Amino acid sequence: MKKYFYLLSLGLVLGLAACDDDDQEEWVVNPNYNGGEVKPQPGEGEKPEVQASYNEQYRPQIHFSPAKNWMNDPNGMVYLDGTWHLFYQFNPYSNDWGNMSWGHATSTDLVHWTEQPVALERCEQGDIFSGSCVIDKDNTAGFGKDAMVALYTANGERQQQNIAYSTDGGKTFTHYSGNPVIANTTRGDFRDPKVFWHEESQQWIMSLALGWEYKIEFWASKDLKSWQMLSQFDVPQEACRRGQWECPDLLRMKVGGKEMWALIVSVNPGGPNGGSGTMYFVGDFDGKEFKALAQDYPLWLDSGTDNYAGVTWSNTPDGSVKLIGWMNNWNYAGASPVSPWRSAMTLPRELSLVESNGKILLAERPVPEIEKIAGEWSEIGEGDFASKLSNNVCSHLQIDIPAIANGTITLGNDNGEAYEISINKSAGMMIVARNGKTGQTSFNGSFSLPSVKSYLPAGDHLTLDIFIDQSSVEIFSADGTMSQTNLVYPKKAYHTVSVSGFEAKMKVRPMKSIWK
Ligand code: FRU
Repeated sequence: MKKYFYLLSLGLVLGLAACDDDDQEEWVVNPNYNGGEVKPQPGEGEKPEVQASYNEQYRPQIHFSPAKNWMNDPNGMVYLDGTWHLFYQFNPYSNDWGNMSWGHATSTDLVHWTEQPVALERCEQGDIFSGSCVIDKDNTAGFGKDAMVALYTANGERQQQNIAYSTDGGKTFTHYSGNPVIANTTRGDFRDPKVFWHEESQQWIMSLALGWEYKIEFWASKDLKSWQMLSQFDVPQEACRRGQWECPDLLRMKVGGKEMWALIVSVNPGGPNGGSGTMYFVGDFDGKEFKALAQDYPLWLDSGTDNYAGVTWSNTPDGSVKLIGWMNNWNYAGASPVSPWRSAMTLPRELSLVESNGKILLAERPVPEIEKIAGEWSEIGEGDFASKLSNNVCSHLQIDIPAIANGTITLGNDNGEAYEISINKSAGMMIVARNGKTGQTSFNGSFSLPSVKSYLPAGDHLTLDIFIDQSSVEIFSADGTMSQTNLVYPKKAYHTVSVSGFEAKMKVRPMKSIWK
């Protein structure tokens, strides 16, 4: 007899997958997926024959996307011996969510990526859900010095934490025979282990998300195999009791020379625009417990619609804190009008803590490595953005507004599509509308939004960095405290700009495709 688990979306059964053969208990996993039905088990399904050209309509040119098939969360990001590894939630069989496995891509510069064979394929213990990788420098686990150890959630009968290790630099992984390393017999949501080495207590610390319990749990281990629960982090304010909590990451950072910690938690639904979003808390971690600083929460890592499940690279060579997010939203990801791939990652971003208006905020800016694909700057006058770039090239536009006033920046193309960025000085907001004017929206009812809002950074002087790809616009303030990432599906990438309501100095540079 088979046992099944059900994937529910807004009360609808989307599909079911066989697990193992005991009794017939039924239980719910991730009620928010609207990403499609579960496809056949590995070996039973037909892999689509379709070939990717990287030139398809809407194909991101400056962001990583898999050649074909479905992708969601970034997983297991780790740097080792000159190579940046990016693993990700991947369906090897189709461009709908299902058969969750870890896809794999590598890069030597964080910008150009080479897709590698699937690293961890869905197995008899269940889907390979999100998780992290560490480099075991001191061989604490006994898999070998500098082994790459992946910690992931096995989404089978229950969500349990497993490990697998690689001693050939991430090419092949072996599942640990003593799995699960953290068993679960009672909970529904218990997932997305993110691990780092805590020098002071000489142990590994894991953050785990408890979904609809709105909690993050911290666990500790000396050897990555045997784990003890340390503490739970609960909502500091009622306003944070939203969505299911997923994909945590606890970050050690500095602000004004003082050490502080930030805890990232992705929530879905309940993000700043409905659907998916990533909250963060700033505070202290004493090796056991994380305590949030008293300030108003939720604070959002990105106030746009499409930066979810982001976590940071482990073992960065210079200690910098680098994050990449899934550039999509569970509200409509499954309906995204792209093929043969589905979903891209955000630009990688460097995180820092900054003090602003008496608050401590988590700031994000594109990593400096993007200079690798940036062309020459050209100063532009109003309306001549198009003449500075050849049509349909991706670009980085920098707009410097010495004194903000109410006004609008309009990005456009020669198909008459337009992306309007309004500055509302009295509300202290930047507001973007995503609607039929910005491009295709009809594939899902929740894609159109009248106002995607971001708080402007402190001060009257505003500098915006805008990264335009074929199907996304990412906006960053100079201090990184404001970022807004939105997907768009115009017929052609925006390549004109006009400004009204305030004076602005503008310059633009082309961004070269990462696939050429
Ligand atoms: C977040 C998430 C994770 C889970 C994975 C499954 O988007 O729901 O919590 O591990 O996706 O694909």
